[in-house]
Amino acid sequence: MGCAISGSGLTARAPEIRAGEEETPAGLTANHIRLIKESWRLIQEDIAKVGIIMFVRLFETHPECKDVFFLFRDVEDLERLRTSRELRAHGLRVMSFIEKSVARLDQLERLETLALELGKSHYRYNAPPKYYGYVGAEFICAVRPILKDRWTPELEEAWKTLFQYVTSIMREGFLEEERNKRSNTQTSSRERPDKRSTAI
Ligand code: HEM
Repeated sequence: MGCAISGSGLTARAPEIRAGEEETPAGLTANHIRLIKESWRLIQEDIAKVGIIMFVRLFETHPECKDVFFLFRDVEDLERLRTSRELRAHGLRVMSFIEKSVARLDQLERLETLALELGKSHYRYNAPPKYYGYVGAEFICAVRPILKDRWTPELEEAWKTLFQYVTSIMREGFLEEERNKRSNTQTSSRERPDKRSTAI
């Protein structure tokens, strides 16, 4: 299970931007984008395997995340999950989101829309933003052995930055949906007494 991520994990960004390199609003340089796209071609070959490893690791290191999943919360033996059809399907859904993110690296507005909607759906899944950062760290640990000596500190920095960007937008989406739901609840509870008074 051990996998040490260099730097400070995914909680704070530690940019290693070279002089003259420009960053996109996502904090990625053109070189980061190139590195992510190149590595994705290799990661893609093992997409289902990476999805499973990533989630089994997530549940091992942060068991509180498992409780969010209706399908997995009662599974005690995490080894069983390695062959679970449901976890494979879920892992593939998440990996296909990562694939879409990689494909939208040159169209950040489209990536932003996608991540915002994903954050909103996570409000409905009851999956709070405090857990999102763990996923990028487990993704990195799952793909590093696949890329072997192609893995470099700069590639790690690139993937960390992408995950930080996506999860920060997901968090915005989550909070937006939370605000909407709260204001809808308040409006409907304010409306209720009025309705009663007209009925009387
Ligand atoms: C980088 C972070 C994450 C990404 C990119 C991600 C992505 C996804 C995607 C693509 C789906 C499929 C459904 C949809 O598109 O709405 C999904 C579903 C879900 N996610 Fe996440 N997720 C992340 C983090 C988390 C975390 C940390 C948790 C729990 C602690 C979580 C809980 C769930 C649940 C409960 C579902 C619905 C169940 C299901 O589809 O089987 N997610 N997620």
